[in-house]
Amino acid sequence: MTVFKTKRELQKFALDTKRAGKTIGLVPTMGFLHEGHASLIDIAREKADVVIVSVFVNPTQFAPNEDFDSYPRDFERDAKLCEAHGVDVVIAPEPQEKYCSTASTFVTETMLSRPLCGASRPTFFRGVTTVVSKLFNLALPDFAVFGEKDAQQLHVIRRMVRDLDFPVEIIAGKLVRDADGLATSSRNRYLSADERERALAIHRALLTAKRTILADRGAIDAALEQAKQTITLAGGKVDYVSALYTATFDKIAPGTRRIIVAAAAFFGTTRLIDNEMFDF
Ligand code: PAF
Repeated sequence: MTVFKTKRELQKFALDTKRAGKTIGLVPTMGFLHEGHASLIDIAREKADVVIVSVFVNPTQFAPNEDFDSYPRDFERDAKLCEAHGVDVVIAPEPQEKYCSTASTFVTETMLSRPLCGASRPTFFRGVTTVVSKLFNLALPDFAVFGEKDAQQLHVIRRMVRDLDFPVEIIAGKLVRDADGLATSSRNRYLSADERERALAIHRALLTAKRTILADRGAIDAALEQAKQTITLAGGKVDYVSALYTATFDKIAPGTRRIIVAAAAFFGTTRLIDNEMFDF
């Protein structure tokens, strides 16, 4: 496995790989890798000749009041996990290498990125779409794998790829849960044992909401209200609990098929997200 620190090394490697007629699979990450990331890497490993993983805590997707500085980092551990899962190249640049100090160009998706996380983190998706565009230009992937845990991010990236004609197939990896049901996330690291126990209420609330909605299409609002109460009673501070049409991330209308019931909530200072996607 090779580790690159600079953009140019990565781009040259990608160009040479393409010239040799090989396919490239990319898994973009912010590091502190867990089973969820490993499952995305395994998908890339099956599809592509060469697998590239990026490990980069991207400053442009954090607001000034968010956890950029404290975001967990452990490159040695990440490198071991990548090696164990057959990764060929890890790109791990420093922020000053990734972004020019006078960078003034950003990529913005203006529709799917508005509700949910986009409403509470207004600059988040602009940071994501910008860094992912840069990665696509550097790693030249045929496939890129993103997790369904970040369902809105996945949809925003799919829309960006469609709208800007990136020649990249976006592949979705299933949400992975720990044995207790908590969705895997690098931020779970911040939770105390007690917060973690209480945070399980998010998944419980989403499952109950899903059951209620499937049993009675007219009960969406009541199901969401109940989910909010479940999370609040467990000591969580709800950011949102919402049910939207996955294709547009807009309100569920008659004829809508696949929907997402998504939640974001704080336990202590840790913001967690989770979702259930299902046919309606
Ligand atoms: O999902 C993430 O970890 C990040 O948002 C991503 C896609 C790596 C961009 O920084």
